[in-house]
Formats: sequence, structure tokens, C-alpha cells
Amino acid sequence: MEEKQIEELNGFRDLRIVDNFYQTSSFFPMPTTEIGTLSESGETNLGSYSLCFPYYIAGKDYYAMVLCCRNSSNTAKNILRTGKCSINFITDKREYFKEAVRLGYPGETTEEKMKNCIFHLVDGKRARENAKEQFPKIIQEAFQVFECTWVKELDGAQNDTVQEEYLPPYHQFNGITSEHGAHFILKIDHILMKPKYYDSIINGVNPRSFPQVPVDYGYRDNKNFWYTRFRRPIAEPIPKSKGISLDTVKYAASRMDTEVKFTDEACAKLVKVPRVFLNTVLKGCVAWAKENNVTLITEKEMEIIQDKRNKEKK
Ligand SMILES: Cc1cc2nc3c(=O)[nH]c(=O)nc-3n(C[C@H](O)[C@H](O)[C@H](O)COP(=O)(O)O)c2cc1C
Repeated sequence: MEEKQIEELNGFRDLRIVDNFYQTSSFFPMPTTEIGTLSESGETNLGSYSLCFPYYIAGKDYYAMVLCCRNSSNTAKNILRTGKCSINFITDKREYFKEAVRLGYPGETTEEKMKNCIFHLVDGKRARENAKEQFPKIIQEAFQVFECTWVKELDGAQNDTVQEEYLPPYHQFNGITSEHGAHFILKIDHILMKPKYYDSIINGVNPRSFPQVPVDYGYRDNKNFWYTRFRRPIAEPIPKSKGISLDTVKYAASRMDTEVKFTDEACAKLVKVPRVFLNTVLKGCVAWAKENNVTLITEKEMEIIQDKRNKEKK
């Protein structure tokens, strides 16, 4: 048989894009999470999910994740019914990933899959704060857990309910989004962190203070899920030359407001701010000055503002 000539474009081949392209037509690095939801009998169901990413990260009233999910899964049904879930991030131990693959096998009921589960389930923060309400439990072995609530109003998905089959029309990005698919925008209520990693976030990371996070490459070769174990992280400093000149800061600061002015020393404290953020930062300083009846921002006021920002970040 004559071999088909494969065309190359500057050293690349054009690959056909098929369903589940992230694992069938590419190599896409993904997290490994176990999503806890409440079954109809109130038991916590764990399902394995890698397509779970940050969605609203700033500039909204809340922070959110997006989950891409088969709509006939226990997880999708439970989120449609109760709106609550826990996203549990597991480390790269082989026995944990083996368990993730077991909990990722479709078609089992909560009772069947949870009977021999190796993870220990405990109450999260929401359960402690609302003793009368039921919440999905969290995995004791996880290094971090997001406790979440589905934002069902987005994309008009508030009337979506569990069905045997889902007929069109479908939503664009929240609720039932296709015959077999669902997307859930999940508001993050709490981020719970194991103390070692809590400390490293508060006090600053070093290569030994990261959790052992696996990278999942999904289901390939019709047989296996593939993943890599964690390796020592590498720190790459930002380029030094990218700071802006004092003159640039002084010029922008002088044009910010007719009443509020900045001293040169105050401006000198902003030379490390990337150019694209300079106006936003200066506007923030002016807003603070107006609130506090200040008309001249000196080094001292700048320190107060920076202190306030650091506290807010924490
Ligand atoms: C590591 C891993 C990652 C997975 N990621 C997803 C995913 O992101 N979305 C999805 O719909 N299914 C995913 N699956 C398949 C689901 O886990 C599978 O449909 C399972 O039946 C869900 O459990 P549940 O019915 O209890 O929700 C994944 C499976 C594994 C093993």
C-alpha cells in the first residue's frame, strides 16, 4: 500500500481535532481533583475531575472555578440538586492516583464506589459553621480543599434539573451545555489548606514548601490514565531591566489629580511597578488620599497605603 505523504509546516504537523481534544489531540497538563457532592441519601460522593480551572479570579464580587463535567455523572446530578461541592486536591502518591482512577470509572453508584474508598472523609468549614445544614465532606488526605457553591443564576441555568436525557436548547457556559455535557461555575466559599502549605503561602515559598502536585495528562491509548509525579519547582526571577524610570512615575503621578500630589520620594517607591499597572496603582493612592483628607502623598503615606494593600492581600 502506498504511504500517505504527511505535510509538514515549519516542522509541525497539522493534527485532526477530535472530541476530548485535550487528551486525544494534544498533551494538556491538568490538575487532579476529587469532587465531593451530596448523594440523594446524603452520603458524600467522590468523583475524579481534571477539567476544573479558575474562572473569576479578580474584579467580581466573588471568586469562582469552572468544572467541565459529563451531565449523567453522579457529580453533575448532585450539583444540579444541591448546588454544593468540595474540590479536593490530592498529592502525587501512586495509591492516591490509583484511587482517583477507580473513582473515575463511570456508572457506579455512590454506595458502590464509596464502600472501599481509601480516603478519609471529614467535615469542612461550612459544616462546622452551619450545624443544621448538610454539606459534602472533604478528604482528610487532600493538601487543599475549595468548598464551593454553584452559581446557578449565571447563563439562566437556575431551572436546570436532573433529567434522564437532555434535549436542546442548551446553555452556553453554565448548567446543561450539550446532550452529554455540563459546565458549572462554582463560587469559592472557603479555601482550606494544610498548615505546612498555609505557612509557605503566608511566609513565602521555597522549593521544599510546595505540595507534591501531580500533573494529569488524561485518558490515552484506550487503556490508561497518564500522569507525572511532582518535581522540585524552579524559581525564575522577573527581568531586572523592566523597572520604570523615576521620571515616568513622576510624570504620571503629576497628571493623576488636581488636588492630590506626590513627593519624589513617594514616586521612588513605585519604580518597580510594571508600566501597565502604574495608573491603577496611582489611582488607588489618590482614592486613599481623598478618603483620608490627604493632599500630599509622601513616603510615609505611601508606606501606609502599601501596608493596607499587603493586609488586604492576606
Ligand atoms: C484523573 C481523572 C480525571 C477525570 N476528569 C474528568 C473531567 O474533568 N470531567 C469529566 O466529566 N470526567 C472526568 N473524569 C471521568 C469521571 O471521573 C467519571 O465520569 C466518573 O464516573 C465521575 O464520577 P461520578 O459519576 O461519581 O461523578 C476523570 C477521570 C479521572 C480518572
